[in-house]
Amino acid sequence: MSSFWSAWIIILTIACIVLCTVLLTWNLTNHVGVPEGEPTGHEFDGIEEINNPLPKWWTIMFYATIVWSVFYFAAYPGLGNWKGLLGWTSSNQGITSLAESKAAIEAQKAAGTPSQLDREYMHANETFGKEFAKYTSRPIEELAYDVEALKVGQRLFLQNCSQCHGSDARGQRGFPNLTDNDWLYGGTVDKIKETLLYGRKAAMPAWGEALGEQGVKEMTAYVLSLSGRKVNDNDAAAGKAKFGMCAACHGADGKGSLAHNLPFGAPNLTDNTWLYGGSAGTIEQSLLKGRNGQMPAFKDTLGEDKIHVIAAYVYRLSRPDDTK
Ligand code: HEC
Ligand code: HEC
Repeated sequence: MSSFWSAWIIILTIACIVLCTVLLTWNLTNHVGVPEGEPTGHEFDGIEEINNPLPKWWTIMFYATIVWSVFYFAAYPGLGNWKGLLGWTSSNQGITSLAESKAAIEAQKAAGTPSQLDREYMHANETFGKEFAKYTSRPIEELAYDVEALKVGQRLFLQNCSQCHGSDARGQRGFPNLTDNDWLYGGTVDKIKETLLYGRKAAMPAWGEALGEQGVKEMTAYVLSLSGRKVNDNDAAAGKAKFGMCAACHGADGKGSLAHNLPFGAPNLTDNTWLYGGSAGTIEQSLLKGRNGQMPAFKDTLGEDKIHVIAAYVYRLSRPDDTK
């Protein structure tokens, strides 16, 4: 801080303290000319002003605040060359600009010193690592019914997953609902863990070119018919004839990868549950442009111990009423 601003703040602060003290002291003497407890003669709307003194407790508190502010002001370092009475130092070691701060971080990195964030992470891992380790030794099917473990799992879920899957885990457009027991990759312990550790990449190709405009319309009609929607029968029949293109991932019956033990994560098209939406327009878009939902891998960012606990939470989400 430049010495001008230091002086500015010092003068303002001292002026404020003096002003408050004077005002308070002035208010303690009777300037109204009527005895205490008597009406002053001012009246508005039937309400009279009485000459009551300031409450004692309030006055004492105000004086205490002033004394405290004087002490704090004297103890506080950084104004001009003033180091403060108690020799406090700032945690940024005198860094006063963004450029200096960036340079300090670079220097720290170059020297291989862990940053403050890294140190906090390490500390947290040391402290809470044991906490998670006590869960890793137990199977997920068991943890999923342990109230304490579920609480930890939920906290981790809110921090790491809710921005995509929602804080209630019911998902949103393009991000699957994790509570409905309708899985793309599988709801077994192994599959959930695999999803969290390594992430998932959906590869639904674009069909605009292969099918053409009319073909997309027909295929959309067929897809809608799979979940029992009313469509133009001719269109649906024409779509069905070409559904072989889709069978490799969605299965010949459209029931999805999982129903056929395939690893592609292609959704069931017959259950009227949609990842992107079940309107004709949305399905056309799915076909024209393809879909490539991505679930990030958490192996490196969260580590296996935490994933173990979150997996238990996710496992339980679609089995809410089960008890053990
Ligand atoms: C950046 C957004 C994003 C974040 C963050 C995210 N996910 Fe996902 N997740 C997705 C998407 C997108 C999919 C669907 C992938 C696909 O379409 O193939 C998915 C799929 C899943 C699946 C598979 C569902 C199924 O039906 O098989 C599970 C389980 C899952 N996520 C759990 C989690 C958990 C637990 C976390 C937090 C540790 C998390 N996700 C964080 C986007 C995200
Ligand atoms: C290579 C595998 C593959 C093929 C072939 C494929 N799909 Fe898909 N499809 C997927 C995957 C994976 C998804 C999920 C995309 C995501 O999660 O982002 C998907 C999603 C969809 C969706 C969106 C579903 C929803 O719930 O919103 C529709 C509709 C669809 N496919 C229809 C078709 C049709 C029709 C064909 C044939 C013309 C086809 N798919 C061929 C893999 C495939």
